[in-house]
Amino acid sequence: MNAAGSAELTLVTGATGRIGSELCRLLCVAGQPVRAFVRTPARAAALAAVGAELAVGDLGDPDAVAAAMRGVRRVFMVTPDTPRQAQIESDLIDAAERAGVARLVKVSAFAAGLVPPLGYGIGHAAIEDRLRHAALAWAVLRPYVFMQNFLDLAAVIVNRGIIPLPLGAARVSFVDARDVARVGQVLLREDAPSGRVFEVTGPMAMTVADVAAALTGALGTGVCYKAVPGWLAGLTMLAGGVSRWHVVRRLALLRMLRAGGEAAVRDTVPRLTGTPARVFSEFVYDHRKAFLRATGA
Ligand SMILES: NC(=O)c1ccc[n+]([C@@H]2O[C@H](COP(=O)([O-])OP(=O)(O)OC[C@H]3O[C@@H](n4cnc5c(N)ncnc54)[C@H](OP(=O)(O)O)[C@@H]3O)[C@@H](O)[C@H]2O)c1
Repeated sequence: MNAAGSAELTLVTGATGRIGSELCRLLCVAGQPVRAFVRTPARAAALAAVGAELAVGDLGDPDAVAAAMRGVRRVFMVTPDTPRQAQIESDLIDAAERAGVARLVKVSAFAAGLVPPLGYGIGHAAIEDRLRHAALAWAVLRPYVFMQNFLDLAAVIVNRGIIPLPLGAARVSFVDARDVARVGQVLLREDAPSGRVFEVTGPMAMTVADVAAALTGALGTGVCYKAVPGWLAGLTMLAGGVSRWHVVRRLALLRMLRAGGEAAVRDTVPRLTGTPARVFSEFVYDHRKAFLRATGA
């Protein structure tokens, strides 16, 4: 792969997010020029510290997006799940084509590949179709559920010692978002496969009881799985301020997971990066401060 140079500039959206921040770090460490698209500069100190150039703006602002695309050769497109996601990503692809971008890697989701697509996957599937007609080289990542999602439950995990989820004994191949970033780094290369879709999973399928055991071992505090019905999970989300739009989609995702939808283990991470996907206990170890901070101690 070529070394730094403006012709090789990579634009990363969602750059303060779980995949985007790690990808920016990896690219900067490798000496590749990175432009990080951020809407909140105050959250971007770590990106600036590793040497990323910042493009500040909102993904819904066409002028900010066009300005961020100037001089860019590759785009890593990760955007949040919102009702506007498909429009935002379609506009990003249009802007990339206008700017003469050579290659774009999109973060999609496993559910985009279901027939029919499900939940958040519906919008992702529409953008995957748009990419198939794009005037640039592309690759799509369909990650399974991130290990990092358990950080959203950190308070209840460490304070009450439970993981309340409606997943029964289903197995899920949780993937570390940092490994999704590693695969993204490989697929941004000029010589990487194009026009292909890659499912990205962790190294093993785990039940939530397995996850609880790993958390118990790494945090030194007792954690167990608490099976809850889907309707209760939905009510808890609503009570916590999650919008109906998200609750409907999250419950659809949870039903799919409970039926074993993301139990497969793919070799994408080791095959493309040359090193194994992270195991769950490594994820917990690396994030134990974030888990323990949730005690408020
Ligand atoms: N979570 C999972 O388990 C999972 C699994 C498979 C696929 N995915 C896919 O991964 C993608 C990312 O999801 P995530 O939950 O992990 O989110 P994330 O990437 O961790 O966070 C979203 C990022 O988007 C930025 N952002 C939000 N609204 C913006 C706006 N209007 N303008 C500019 N930037 C904006 C956020 O910036 P701020 O810092 O300013 O908020 C943040 O950097 C989604 O498409 C999702 O479908 C997720």
